[in-house]
Amino acid sequence: MKEFYFKCIVCEHEFEKKDVEYTCPLCGENLEVMYEYKKIKKNFSKKNLSKNNNKTIWRYIDLLPVEDNNVLTKIQLYNSPLIRSINVSQIVGIKNLFFKDDTKLASGSLKDRASAIVVAYGLQNNKEKIVTASTGNAGCALACISAMVGIRPEIYVPHTAPLNKLIQMTVYGAKIYKVEGSYDDCYDKVLNLCLEDKKYFNRSTGINPFTREGKKTVSLEIWEQMSYTVPDIIFVSIGDGNIISGVWKGFKDLYELGLIEKLPILIGVQSKLSNAIFLTLKKIEQKFYSNKNKKYSKSIKEILQNTKIQKVEAKTVADSISVNFPRDAYAALKSIIESGGYVIEVDDTKIINSIKTLASKEGLFCEPAAATSFAGMMEVVKYSDEIKNKTVVVLITGHGLKDVKTIMASYKNLSS
Ligand SMILES: Cc1ncc(COP(=O)(O)O)c(C=O)c1O
Ligand SMILES: [Zn+2]
Repeated sequence: MKEFYFKCIVCEHEFEKKDVEYTCPLCGENLEVMYEYKKIKKNFSKKNLSKNNNKTIWRYIDLLPVEDNNVLTKIQLYNSPLIRSINVSQIVGIKNLFFKDDTKLASGSLKDRASAIVVAYGLQNNKEKIVTASTGNAGCALACISAMVGIRPEIYVPHTAPLNKLIQMTVYGAKIYKVEGSYDDCYDKVLNLCLEDKKYFNRSTGINPFTREGKKTVSLEIWEQMSYTVPDIIFVSIGDGNIISGVWKGFKDLYELGLIEKLPILIGVQSKLSNAIFLTLKKIEQKFYSNKNKKYSKSIKEILQNTKIQKVEAKTVADSISVNFPRDAYAALKSIIESGGYVIEVDDTKIINSIKTLASKEGLFCEPAAATSFAGMMEVVKYSDEIKNKTVVVLITGHGLKDVKTIMASYKNLSS
């Protein structure tokens, strides 16, 4: 078993595995998985990767907190393609524009990466039951990966979750609980369940430090697919903020291992109708950022310790990123600030139009939450000429057939 320990995202204290259940014992915030990078360096190298024919997530086993045993062979989660834009790149004038197409993963969303690690870790550490709160995709992903290993997970979804996602979970064989409330209500229910009954392993986003470890594999793939280079800018849709912090963790790990010399700038994108992280970052900038010196006046630790996450009443049509209180907000903010990036917010109508553009110009059909990152890129390119000379990756996180209600309603012949 690879050695790892935990570090708190906010107070930065470090803990041994045995001293932690889910979150920081001192301040209660989310934890990050840390490795003895010097020891990993020997195995995790460009040379070894180039000789490795395993095209599943386990090609990165040396940088993941799970053991190499028969559980892993059952979880066949293959890598996703990095697609060079042909048509949109010409329209917007970004020569090196790529889409990381996670709609092609097993259950059709990036969440499969997180569920693979959580299920593997759970089974290898005697967790009897796995449960999650989900807006939909995390549940589909957990159900799909659980089916591969022959267990039945429990999934708490808001009653508004898209039908297609419910169908997916049902067919994979999961036990579904529809909650008459929001995603945030589901989250609290699962939290309480896991406090009362220790047989449950809580996969919910944020609280479980292993989801970020799974999501980071998207960055490891991008790095390999770009011939061991790093894009200048990555656009990421934000709900809870776990994907964007996972993207950052992947590149940070590569940096710690001495495999890359620069890090990408992360641009987070939210809907204007679910913009908690956008608003929180604005507050941080007002308080701690000096436009004159072009830098923050306090360390990231001080900034986070003195910042309250802004709650909102989320109402976006992009169901997967409709979140009142983001559960990995500090990690997201830390990643964005460390990367020198920022967050933008976009209208829901622009999100829906982005689905159409991406599908009709590139043959890539994604759900509203996934098109949000693309909508953000389309906005930035309007006011930044600088971006046109950069290598840009837009993360496409979920398949279009998962959530069709809004897109159907926007076509007269489909909605009548
Ligand atoms: C398709 C899709 N995109 C983006 C996100 C946002 O990820 P996060 O909640 O980690 O910010 C989600 C989360 O459910 C998602 O399902
Ligand atoms: Zn802490």
